[in-house]
Amino acid sequence: MVYLDNWALKAKQMGYRSRAVFKLEEIFNKTRTNSFKYVLDLGSSPGAWSQFILKKNSNANVFALDILDMEPIEGVKFFKQDIEQIYNIPQIFKLKDNFNLVISDIAPNLSGIKLIDNKNIFDLNKLTIDIASDFLCRDGILIMKTFQNNFLKTLRKDMELSFKIVQTYKPAASKKKSGEIYLYGEK
Ligand SMILES: C[S@@+](CC[C@H](N)C(=O)[O-])C[C@H]1O[C@@H](n2cnc3c(N)ncnc32)[C@H](O)[C@@H]1O
Repeated sequence: MVYLDNWALKAKQMGYRSRAVFKLEEIFNKTRTNSFKYVLDLGSSPGAWSQFILKKNSNANVFALDILDMEPIEGVKFFKQDIEQIYNIPQIFKLKDNFNLVISDIAPNLSGIKLIDNKNIFDLNKLTIDIASDFLCRDGILIMKTFQNNFLKTLRKDMELSFKIVQTYKPAASKKKSGEIYLYGEK
């Protein structure tokens, strides 16, 4: 039998593809994330964050990337690509400097070796910050998942170089033991 916690059950009842949606919703409610026309969803599969964006604004143009497949969502342009490839996707590249919001819930595959896993997370987060700096418009917003580890301070400092406001959030829907944490930045 598959065990669904309260968040997963609520997500299912509301038609969302994963419980991750409630983490994004909480960060939205606590911040000034409210106007967005062009949105980049990095690590989008199975698609709950993209669904949430469209529920908030049915006119939003959502571009989503994941190395895994994602079932289609009306209004979302999905690319089965590693985020490293984003500069080679013409439909997205032509919108450089025009995105209002970049959301990243990326979680890399874990090897179980802490040092390697933490460095992989750090590298993906650094790349995400670079992508957000390149693709966001002025005042654009980045919401990015990361993990509480030795690199967190360095990562936050790095983000502060390109974002005027940087804040940390641990949403209630995020399992305490997971160590995941979200960085929010305004460019
Ligand atoms: C926690 S899930 C995202 C859940 C999603 N936010 C939702 O609401 O349904 C993390 C995703 O990151 C993707 N991912 C990991 N590394 C990636 C990479 N380098 N490029 C693109 N996607 C990646 C994984 O395949 C996985 O689907």
